[in-house]
Amino acid sequence: MNHTSYPRGAHRMVVGISGATGIAYGIRTLQVLRAAGIETHLVMSRSARLTLSYESDLTTAQVQELADFHYSPEDVGAPIASGSFRTRGMIVAPCSVKSLAQIAVGTCDTLLARAADVTLKERNRLVLMVRETPLTLTHLRNMTTVTENGGIIAPPVPAFYTRPEGLEEVIDQSVGRALDLFGIDSETFPRWGEPAVPAQDAASAPTTTRVLAQSAVHV
Ligand SMILES: Cc1cc2nc3c(=O)[nH]c(=O)nc-3n(C[C@H](O)[C@H](O)[C@H](O)COP(=O)(O)O)c2cc1C
Repeated sequence: MNHTSYPRGAHRMVVGISGATGIAYGIRTLQVLRAAGIETHLVMSRSARLTLSYESDLTTAQVQELADFHYSPEDVGAPIASGSFRTRGMIVAPCSVKSLAQIAVGTCDTLLARAADVTLKERNRLVLMVRETPLTLTHLRNMTTVTENGGIIAPPVPAFYTRPEGLEEVIDQSVGRALDLFGIDSETFPRWGEPAVPAQDAASAPTTTRVLAQSAVHV
């Protein structure tokens, strides 16, 4: 038996969507990962279903269809609740300050919180697109705790040097920069100092979305 060739789960990612405003970040993340050929495992919190109803015409079922696998937030027996289930890591997009707090404390009381805790304990990549403003000292302390545990706080803060022409470009830039942290190049936003990529819908352009080698991921 070749003990060095077992799969490391690089083709697989956990996507958490919590109830902060900005459900579009989660939806776009799922679209880009599908285009990149990454197998996605989705858990949406109960509150995310509520924000979805306010912020999008999509139904919960339609968002779930963007993922390869989806789980109920109560299903703490799902594969992503176990450290033996290998993945490239987990992104929470958007991440509410409640989910941030649960992850900082390690409550493991929902599947989203448990999967994030598992990601940290396995010393795997965890990226939280925390969305709240202004921030309390508690929020900041929770961000510090997650960072000390190896997680990455990546709030969806737009860049303006790219001169975005609309919300979609702003969303693509934030999602693209967050996925950079997993070594996944969405090719959906312009990079400073590099030629602009042609405008495209990542969801319909799987062949042009490049996934960097797993070796590019530093965890
Ligand atoms: C329309 C709407 C927008 C919200 N925006 C935010 C937000 O930006 N950040 C945040 O932390 N919570 C926000 N909340 C509150 C969360 O949904 C709420 O705290 C919830 O308990 C989070 O639970 P979850 O982390 O399990 O999804 C919002 C709620 C609603 C209904």
